[in-house]
Amino acid sequence: MALAGITALPGDTSWAVGSGILRWIADHLSVEMITVETGAGKTTVLFAALAKHHYCCTVSQREADKIRAYLEQIGVPNDKLTFLVGSTDETLSRLGSNTLFDFAYIDGCHGYPFPALDWHYIDKHLNVGGIIGMDDAQLRPVREHCEFLEENGTYRLAGIVSFARFYTKLTDQNREWIDQAYSRAKKDPGDWRLLTRIRRKATKWLKPYLY
Ligand SMILES: C[S@@+](CC[C@H](N)C(=O)[O-])C[C@H]1O[C@@H](n2cnc3c(N)ncnc32)[C@H](O)[C@@H]1O
Repeated sequence: MALAGITALPGDTSWAVGSGILRWIADHLSVEMITVETGAGKTTVLFAALAKHHYCCTVSQREADKIRAYLEQIGVPNDKLTFLVGSTDETLSRLGSNTLFDFAYIDGCHGYPFPALDWHYIDKHLNVGGIIGMDDAQLRPVREHCEFLEENGTYRLAGIVSFARFYTKLTDQNREWIDQAYSRAKKDPGDWRLLTRIRRKATKWLKPYLY
């Protein structure tokens, strides 16, 4: 944390999303929805309270226990929430093929390749027409995945709140590059002319400022 200029005090710390993001999610949730998120916190309470059933992925049993205790205090039934405790590269990969989601929020591990990896597993279970939110698009591993979602054409940008970007799923997507508009976009990856290289460098430099 210190390396990124962030001070975290010892003990429990909240990295919760802001009220604007909570409101956007609440406005797009309904009682028939099955929902999933990576990461736990205020968002978990919101999803568990408003959705039909919520799956929350966290590495921390302590977070799960504290959230359950809080939900009991405010009268949200225990059986509306399933915690998948462990790292998402293991827990999400074990989801049964008949588990389908209507709304997902990705705010777990933010290091490469986790935002894309969380999307990869969740996307396979997300209904067409479902919504997915990517938190912290100011961070490179998230931002670059958002670029994929926005350029590829299988998701449509549905909302931006602070550093969160929400998308509606338009269709299922094969993972092979030839099937992806995003991966085909560079017409000739072997084009090594000076002008092409300058254009690519300039695009790379500019992109972080566009978010
Ligand atoms: C930024 S917080 C989530 C905040 C939450 N969305 C909220 O609004 O309160 C990040 C969360 O990701 C979880 N996490 C970190 N690495 C993870 C991983 N590899 N797999 C699953 N969860 C992870 C942490 O335990 C923590 O709950």
